[in-house]
Amino acid sequence: MTVVNSALSKFNRPQPRRMDFVFDDSIPMDWFGGDPFKTMVLTALSATFPEGERFFVDSVRHYQKNVSPELAAQVSGFIGQEAHHGREHDAFNQFMQRKGLPMKRIEQFVEGGLKFMRKRLSPERQLAMTCALEHFTAILAEMALENPDFFGPMDERVKALWYWHAIEESEHKAVAFDVFQDQVGSYWIRSSQMALNTLEFAFFTTLHTYSLFKARGIQRDWRMHLKGLNEMLGNNPGWLRKMGKAYWSYYKPSFHPWQRDTNQAMNHWKQVYGIV
Ligand SMILES: [Fe+2]
Ligand SMILES: [Fe+2]
Repeated sequence: MTVVNSALSKFNRPQPRRMDFVFDDSIPMDWFGGDPFKTMVLTALSATFPEGERFFVDSVRHYQKNVSPELAAQVSGFIGQEAHHGREHDAFNQFMQRKGLPMKRIEQFVEGGLKFMRKRLSPERQLAMTCALEHFTAILAEMALENPDFFGPMDERVKALWYWHAIEESEHKAVAFDVFQDQVGSYWIRSSQMALNTLEFAFFTTLHTYSLFKARGIQRDWRMHLKGLNEMLGNNPGWLRKMGKAYWSYYKPSFHPWQRDTNQAMNHWKQVYGIV
C-alpha cells in the first residue's frame, strides 16, 4: 500500500462554507447567457449532484477510520463541503423545477442508479468511482477557474453558485484520491473504473440533458444542437476538448490530482467572491 500525502502539503483541511444562495424566479430559464444548450447541460449535471455527492461522501467515509489523523481531518472537510454542495444544488434544482423542468424525475433516476451501484460494487470500486467522478469535477472546475470567459455570460446570481462549487471542488480534489491510494492502491481498479465511469457519465449526462430539452419542446432545434456541439467539441477549441489532456493524465500510473496546480486561479476567484 502506498501512502500519497502530497495533497497534505497543499491544504490542511478543505474548509466547508455555508452559502444560503437564493434563486429567485426572476432569474431567466436560460441563465447561461441565454444559451439553452449550455444551460441545460449544466442543469442536468446539477440534477445529479445532491445524490451523487451523498454517494461520494459514503464511499470515502467508509475508510475514514483507517487513515492517518491528517488525512481523516481532510476527509471531514471533504464531507462538509460535499454536504453543503448537495444542499445548495437542491435549492437550485427546486428553482429549475419551478421553471417546469423535470428535476425531481432525474434526481429519482440518479438515486435508483446509485442504489444499484451501492449494492453491486465493492467498497474499493465505489471509492474508485468517486475518484473518477471527482476527477471530472476537478477538471471542469479547473477549466472554469482558468478560463474566465467560460462562466462569463452567466447570470451573476447563478454564477456565484458555480464558482463557489468550482473553488471547493478544486480545494478537495485530492482527498478521495489520497484515501484510495492509501487504502486500496490498485492501478487496475482506479483506471478501469475511470473508463467505465467515462462511458456511463457521457451516456447519462446526454440522456438527462435530452430529457430537459424534451420537457421544453426544443429537442429538435438542430441549429441549437449544432452550435452547442461546436462550442463543446469544435476547433476553437471547444470547452470539452480543452479538458482532454487533463482527463487523460488520470491514466498515468504516477498521476496525482495536485500535479495540476490550480491554486493561483482558485485564490483569484476566492478574492473575487470574498470566500475565505
Ligand atoms: Fe461537490
Ligand atoms: Fe467533490
